[in-house]
Amino acid sequence: MNNFEFYNPVKICFGKGEIAKLSKLVPKGANVMLTYGGGSIKKNGVYDQVITALKGYNIIEFNGIEANPHYETLMKGVALAKAHKIDFLLAVGGGSVLDGTKFIAAAALWEGSDPWEILSRRSEFHVEKALPIGTVLTLPATGSEMNGNSVVTRWETHDKLAFDSEHVMPVFSILDPEVVFSLPQIQVANGIVDAFAHVMEQYLTYPVNAPIQDRFAESILITLIEEGPKVLANRTDYESAANFMWAATMALNGLIGAGVPQDWATHTIGHELTAFHGIDHGQTLCIILPGIMNLKRETKKEKILQYGERVWKITEGSTNERIDATIKKTVGFFESVGIKTKLADYGVGSDIIVKVVDRFTKRGIKGIGERGDLTIADVAEILELQLK
Ligand code: NZQ
Ligand code: ZN
Repeated sequence: MNNFEFYNPVKICFGKGEIAKLSKLVPKGANVMLTYGGGSIKKNGVYDQVITALKGYNIIEFNGIEANPHYETLMKGVALAKAHKIDFLLAVGGGSVLDGTKFIAAAALWEGSDPWEILSRRSEFHVEKALPIGTVLTLPATGSEMNGNSVVTRWETHDKLAFDSEHVMPVFSILDPEVVFSLPQIQVANGIVDAFAHVMEQYLTYPVNAPIQDRFAESILITLIEEGPKVLANRTDYESAANFMWAATMALNGLIGAGVPQDWATHTIGHELTAFHGIDHGQTLCIILPGIMNLKRETKKEKILQYGERVWKITEGSTNERIDATIKKTVGFFESVGIKTKLADYGVGSDIIVKVVDRFTKRGIKGIGERGDLTIADVAEILELQLK
């Protein structure tokens, strides 16, 4: 196992009715900025629960944080937070609202000249302080509720970039599985496959004798395979919603990634499909991951075979036959929850290859993936493989 540091201070309040605890969690006397998205929380009753729980607090609202949150929108939130001397941010929504709020929290205290550098120059400039954040999660998928990651899109240039800092990890996150009931089917499916891909990015690399992390990862995958379809089939099944929600949080809170190699090539390439074509985040991962498994079958061989055997019970055939069967099972799972896996399914043609290659070249990317050996030429090949 590799050396690691693990730090996760996020307090989780999980279960039905937990939103009522907000008054115990948000500091008394705080100037609170409540952030949310396009209005789903007003339709499903979450907004009312939050406002009731925070009776007596001084609250400013900032809404309209869109899916794949825009830098341009978030900078308005930064201005509002500064103008009202906000000292606590409460994000109520899915990964986009949470990520957007993390950016606002960091940018509000940023002392550099241009807050975009938090994202564009993340390797040089680290976020050293941020306003405190609490969250009420409404969409299990990203793990943003229990990590320090944030992904932001600059609409003007169609750049989708990430940063991470322990200073934007929420102080608390409330996870009430009943929020799942109002999600559109496609968002449930996106959430299932996003969480699935998060596990794969930290698991499908190469062995380092880390059985705890491996078995933990496999248990999350199996839980998503078993519980995901139940959530889709019965939208008010509380138990399945709860298991799905906790699986998604555990998939990206740092635990399964501690002490093991990590890949993240699927996400790096997938973000470009969202940036250029607006394809939902979860969908981009279902397009790219099978391509990477196929192209990197040699360097990922041991873990693909282990995953195939332990998760899909594939034990027969030559190495290549088992790998093919494992990829087929993975694609079959994505399709069974309603997510298509080829670029043509989203109306995207071969011109995407040039665009992504050009962008990665300009960014000076040499190699990505757990060994840093997935080159720009490989990226082009993966996109080619996944055209139709
Ligand atoms: O805006 P509202 O009206 O709230 O509607 C949202 C949005 O349209 C709706 N929704 C959310 N909860 C709902 C609901 N509708 C009905 N009932 C509910 N309970 O769902 C739509 C999608 O929401 P969004 O927040 O965009 O989805 P998701 O949670 O999948 O977040 C995606 C974003 O997170 C980033 C992605 O790149 C993308 O920008 N990620 C963040 C990560 C992290 N912080 O660690 C890791 C991920 O890999 C990912 O990159
Ligand atoms: Zn993701």
